[in-house]
Amino acid sequence: MSNNVIAIDGPAASGKGTVSKAISEKLQFNYLDTGKLYRAIGAKYLEGYEPISAAQNLDNNDLKIYDLQKPEIAQVASEIALIPEVRAALLQFQRNFSKKLPGAVLDGRDIGTVVCPDAKVKIFLTASLDSRASRRYFELVKQDTKISLETILDQIRQRDERDQKRRSSPLVAAVDAKVIDTSDLSIKEAVDEVFAYVRSKI
Ligand code: CDP
Repeated sequence: MSNNVIAIDGPAASGKGTVSKAISEKLQFNYLDTGKLYRAIGAKYLEGYEPISAAQNLDNNDLKIYDLQKPEIAQVASEIALIPEVRAALLQFQRNFSKKLPGAVLDGRDIGTVVCPDAKVKIFLTASLDSRASRRYFELVKQDTKISLETILDQIRQRDERDQKRRSSPLVAAVDAKVIDTSDLSIKEAVDEVFAYVRSKI
C-alpha cells in the first residue's frame, strides 16, 4: 500500500484543481477531484434521484455524463454534501483511490482531515473571496456560461458558509496542513510554491 498521498483542501475556486492537476502531472501521480463526486450526486439529485442511494451507487459514468462545471450544480453539490450518509458513501471510493500507485493527489474539503488523515503531505490552499470569485468568473465566461461576477460572489460566499458550518466533515485546515494563500500568486507561482513544499516532504 502506498502512502504517497497528497491532500489539497481549500474553499471554492481557491485554485485547488489547477494546482493539484499540475502537481500530479509533475510526479506522475493519480489525481482525483473529489468535488466532482459531490457535483455528480448534485446533478443526479436535480434529475430526481434520491441523493443517498445515488451516492451509494455512484459509477464512473456519472462523472462523465453531466456538465459538472455548471454553477447551479456546484450549488446543489454543496447542499447534498451536508448529508452524512452521502459523505459516508463517498468515503470508500476516495480512500480506495488514495491507495493507487505510485501515489495520489486528492483535492477537496476534508481530504487532510477525514478522508486521508495520514496523508504524507497536506496543503490548505486559500485566497481572498474577491480573487476566487473573479477567477471562477473568467473560467466560466471562457466556457460561454452567462453569469455575472456578482452572482458568482454570492454563490461562493453561500457555499463557503455551508461548507464551513456543516457538522459532518466541515471545511477546515488540518492542524498539520501547510496553508498557502494564492490571492497574489499567478498559477505558475502557486504551482511552484506547492511543488517545493511537496518535494520537501516526499
Ligand atoms: O471547484 P470548487 O472549489 O468550486 O468546488 P468543488 O471542489 O467541485 O466542490 C463542490 C462542492 O462539493 C463544495 O462546495 C462542497 O460542498 C462539496 N465538497 C465536499 O463537501 N467535500 C469534498 N471533499 C469536495 C467537495
